[in-house]
Amino acid sequence: MFVKNCWYVIAWDYEIPTAQDNGKIFARTVLGEPIVVYRTAAGLVALADRCCHRGAPLSKGRLEGDNLRCGYHGLVFNPVGQCIEVPGMDAPPPKACVKSYPVVEKNRWVFVWMGDPSRADLAQLPDNFSSGSPDWCNEPGYLHYDTNYLLICDNLLDFSHLSYVHEKTLGGSTAIAQARAQVDAITAPGQRGLRVQRRVEKVPSPPSYQRIHEFKGTIERWWDYDFLLPGTLLMKSGGKPSADNTVDSGQVELHSCQTVTPETEHSTHYFFQQGHRKGQGDDELAGAMHQMLIRAFHEDKDMIGAQQASLDAAPDFEMLPLHLDSALTRFRKLVETEAARD
Ligand code: FES
Ligand SMILES: [Fe+2]
Repeated sequence: MFVKNCWYVIAWDYEIPTAQDNGKIFARTVLGEPIVVYRTAAGLVALADRCCHRGAPLSKGRLEGDNLRCGYHGLVFNPVGQCIEVPGMDAPPPKACVKSYPVVEKNRWVFVWMGDPSRADLAQLPDNFSSGSPDWCNEPGYLHYDTNYLLICDNLLDFSHLSYVHEKTLGGSTAIAQARAQVDAITAPGQRGLRVQRRVEKVPSPPSYQRIHEFKGTIERWWDYDFLLPGTLLMKSGGKPSADNTVDSGQVELHSCQTVTPETEHSTHYFFQQGHRKGQGDDELAGAMHQMLIRAFHEDKDMIGAQQASLDAAPDFEMLPLHLDSALTRFRKLVETEAARD
């Protein structure tokens, strides 16, 4: 089940070659649809990666100026997907075309609109500001999952798992799992999702924070994030000395942008970054933080992969709803409602 009328991240900006990259063509599958993305002088182009002639992937062809030539029998498509040349024919048949997708770049994420092109709405793009801001240091990350995207959304909507899955990386205290998250609907125009807030007091600083700022005593930690359709997390998080901590000063302040894009019903692309403010560390720190994040996200991937295998082995298994599941239950309902509306 997918919500189609949404912007989905298909790539980081650096993944899409420029005209100088010798005609390399980027291709990735989103919601089961293979798509090629390339750059022209006028901007980005996204076309179906399946030639309308015999179905060969256009990504195996070559760019000729702003047009794309199929590498099999040489049909040429312009940036809106219309075939403009069939070798040996005076004019291509009018129905020779491939689907073109609305595509837009914002703060280093490249988005494609997977639903009705006439409904593509820029107001629905997430505010992933820190990914493209000179005031924030971060490194772009990508992981591929062989699991359904909703299991990854579930994980991102319930941070109680930090205490256990990320005990030695991002978590460090069982108090995180004991704290209740506040969950509210988001009502901003164009944005559909939930706001999730969680706070804990008097906990040890986790290894990931100690790398940024060495706390000797206990700290207060917070995670405030919006989780938007189709599966985008925009989070402010951080830590500062607890009220009774008189030995430490200063704080850690982070901003993270993460999004899941279904590749198929059974596999998912995961794009992420978590950064710190410029001046609260250096570029070397961004690299170290990125490595820590990669390590932590592999902890998630191992658990979610094992969960997927376990669920696949027991198709009749019914999950037991608990209070922990409030945000993810509401988000799944939203996905259901919006998918039915598509
Ligand atoms: S399959 Fe593309 S030209 Fe024949
Ligand atoms: Fe996690």
